[in-house]
Amino acid sequence: MTAERGKTKFQIDLRRHLRERGVERNLAHLICEIAEASKYIINSIRTGDLGVAGTSNLYGEEQLALDVLADRILTKRLLHCGVVANVLSEEVPEVTPVSLDCEGRYSVAFDPLDGSSLVDVNLAVGTIVSIYEGCDMMLPGSKQAAALYILYGPRTTLVYCCGDGVHEFGMNQLMEYYLLQEDIQMQQKANIYSPGGLRNLYTEGVEAYVQALEEGGVKLRYSGGFVPDINQVLMKGTGVFFYPHLKGKPDGKLRVAFELNPMAYLVEHAGGKASDGKTPILERAPESLNDRAPIFIGCTEDVEMAEEMIARLG
Ligand code: AHG
Ligand code: MN
Ligand code: MN
Repeated sequence: MTAERGKTKFQIDLRRHLRERGVERNLAHLICEIAEASKYIINSIRTGDLGVAGTSNLYGEEQLALDVLADRILTKRLLHCGVVANVLSEEVPEVTPVSLDCEGRYSVAFDPLDGSSLVDVNLAVGTIVSIYEGCDMMLPGSKQAAALYILYGPRTTLVYCCGDGVHEFGMNQLMEYYLLQEDIQMQQKANIYSPGGLRNLYTEGVEAYVQALEEGGVKLRYSGGFVPDINQVLMKGTGVFFYPHLKGKPDGKLRVAFELNPMAYLVEHAGGKASDGKTPILERAPESLNDRAPIFIGCTEDVEMAEEMIARLG
């Protein structure tokens, strides 16, 4: 049954969809537990106090109270759900082991609240989750068992993929996730672009890429939140997002384990492409769980054009 976006003939909830798509039982349970945790994160966004937590994360970034609260909510849920081996949060420097038994369990890397600094200006933020089978997360993104994000925008939506299609769910008035559309497929060519990072630090190749997009009539759309910016590309089916290598910052800003691998998994399963400018994101062998990388992600033609210009001009 393919639901047209926003008009579901039957209310297929998340648990039923996972079951009907044959997702492994423990993985389905894990995804439902993450969906449950999102309800408490929504509440903390809507009512929690803004401002700093007085701590900073491994990257030296000042943590907001909401970062820490969202991290606690999701971590607690994962520790007690019974199907997790290891947990790794963007907000905590080391892996939290949950069970030495890897069999039938999953390891989860997550960004509990991406774009948290946008909450105090009431812009959309999200939770990003990467799931591996067993205990090992020091693996290329292509080895993920699943990836998902929850977008806390005017509507709350959840998008997941377990390797068989990319599917979008909306939260209804009972705070349950119901299928909005399944098997999302992207077009080959972008009509919007989302340029991250400081423009005056763009290399010659990236600057030429932006010129080429503009000359091609591609419109700029950038919210500053990775989750809404990627969601826009996926849901419109057209677009390209990039947070490139910059002069003095060859690895850009975004983190491979928590942000790039899960979004690359989703976009590539929807027929798009994700590259660091040279190599597919999902093929990068991690040097550490805190790797950062440049990212060009979205419509295949536009990502390939970026790779060609960077190869030529740097
Ligand atoms: P986080 O809030 O988890 O640190 O991530 C913020 C990221 C991402 O949401 C966005 O694409 C990027 O920061 C924007 O960075 P700039 O503010 O440098 O544009
Ligand atoms: Mn983030
Ligand atoms: Mn974050």
